[in-house]
Amino acid sequence: MAEDRKVKLAVQNVSKTFRVRGTMGESDSLLPVLRNLSFDVYENEIVSLIGESGCGKTTLLRIVQGLIRLDAGTIRVDGNAVGVPGRDRGFVFQQSSLLPWRTARQNVEFGLELSGVPKRERGEKSRELLKLVGLAHATEQYPHELSGGMQQRVNLARAMAIDPAILLMDEPFSALDAQTREVLQRELLRIQAEANKTILFVTHDLDEAIYLSNRVIVLGAKPGRIKKIIEIPFGRNRPELPQMRGEPEFQRIRAEMWDLIRNTPASAAVAA
Ligand SMILES: Nc1ncnc2c1ncn2[C@@H]1O[C@H](COP(=O)(O)OP(=O)(O)O)[C@@H](O)[C@H]1O
Ligand SMILES: [Mg+2]
Repeated sequence: MAEDRKVKLAVQNVSKTFRVRGTMGESDSLLPVLRNLSFDVYENEIVSLIGESGCGKTTLLRIVQGLIRLDAGTIRVDGNAVGVPGRDRGFVFQQSSLLPWRTARQNVEFGLELSGVPKRERGEKSRELLKLVGLAHATEQYPHELSGGMQQRVNLARAMAIDPAILLMDEPFSALDAQTREVLQRELLRIQAEANKTILFVTHDLDEAIYLSNRVIVLGAKPGRIKKIIEIPFGRNRPELPQMRGEPEFQRIRAEMWDLIRNTPASAAVAA
């Protein structure tokens, strides 16, 4: 599709093997986790990575973030090769990583403080972002006073505060109850549309991947490699997830992903 669109993230020929230290005199063993992965994420796109547990999704995201060194390949953000964490990449984890002694606003301001943004500007920016994520009423509350869903909203605002070129999200909603998760999925689409963010999103939830994404990258396991990149045909004005689930196109894509992940041909999966 997007040949004319700007590439925000380019992952090229990335491979990673962990050396697992042997215990009690055994020799070290090698665990190949990612093999020769290549894909692009375009500006304003949401791309999801799906695949079974242990297939290397988190490892790939950490490599993009710059926390894990790759063995081979390159990661480019806006055309620049990256190797260490930087302000061009914001990160949201599954577990809230807020500082408990700071209010929601002070958490959002943290990265801005580190980069020397003046106080007044920090305050304006953090209030604007907390409003964007639906927390205008809770700016002065501490993390323990916030629900899990609210904490993830703060984490998102904090990741956005440094205005990264791309947001990396690792199963950010999977610790939330089903209802909160659906609310936040919808919210993420709204926020992404309002703020024009580019997002690389990791999930093992197929419905979530289809609902949120422009494209879904299906990873195979041991070692992780790209099985297929699936274009999601629902446009910007996608129906809400409960309605979307009823669409034949949704069901077709979901079945295809499921087959790819389970490694079985479509016909066998239907019979099972
Ligand atoms: N630092 C590490 N050292 C050794 N093995 C690791 C390390 N991090 C992850 N692994 C292994 O790499 C594989 C992929 O893990 P991970 O990227 O967390 O998968 P996913 O996020 O898809 O569940 C797993 O087998 C995991 O045990
Ligand atoms: Mg993971």
